[in-house]
Amino acid sequence: MINLRLATSADLNLLQHWDEQPHVIASNPNDKWDWEVELHHKSEGREQLIAEINGHPIGFIEITDPARDDSNYWGNVAVNLRAIDIWIGEENDLGKGYGTQMMQLALERCFTDPLVTAVLVDPLASNTRAHRFYERLGFQFVEQRWFGNDDCFVYRLNREDWHHENTIVS
Ligand SMILES: CC(C)(COP(=O)(O)OP(=O)(O)OC[C@H]1O[C@@H](n2cnc3c(N)ncnc32)[C@H](O)[C@@H]1OP(=O)(O)O)[C@@H](O)C(=O)NCCC(=O)NCCS
Repeated sequence: MINLRLATSADLNLLQHWDEQPHVIASNPNDKWDWEVELHHKSEGREQLIAEINGHPIGFIEITDPARDDSNYWGNVAVNLRAIDIWIGEENDLGKGYGTQMMQLALERCFTDPLVTAVLVDPLASNTRAHRFYERLGFQFVEQRWFGNDDCFVYRLNREDWHHENTIVS
């Protein structure tokens, strides 16, 4: 039902609109994304995706290769990892299982590369609902870490812990 496609400059208004939604701001209050730059900045270590249901966009996913991403967000980090950022645009669409399906598709995409050993996420330390969301998908807590002004929990899903069954266990 849900598919992921590459974000394009035609998504600019939509992404800016989603950025103004309180639940999106709450999950990322300090990092302003400059979408005009982001959408034109094609980088080998970064993939920006729109999730759609029947052609209707509902959310955003960014997959980076943290060792190659030129923003150097993760600092000194091992090769053959991926990192995921995710949000659903409209508050009405939260809690309907869409995020789980989006993550399943994103994880498939990450682990399709046989070299990829694990996937990282970095929710705010305060975003306890997101922690539960990632834990249900099989992610394990690694450490508490500051990224700029953000107090975050780093979670990791190793390839050997990635099973499709994990994503439907509640
Ligand atoms: C996190 C998110 C992608 C999950 O997608 P979803 O479609 O809402 O989630 P699902 O319906 O598949 O699963 C439900 C679980 O999602 C999480 N969730 C639901 N609403 C949430 C919210 N506003 N913020 C964070 N997590 C939320 C909870 O763990 C929820 O389980 P619960 O009802 O037992 O608390 C989505 O809620 C979202 O975009 N939240 C705001 C942005 C965000 O927090 N992104 C993650 C930053 S690292």
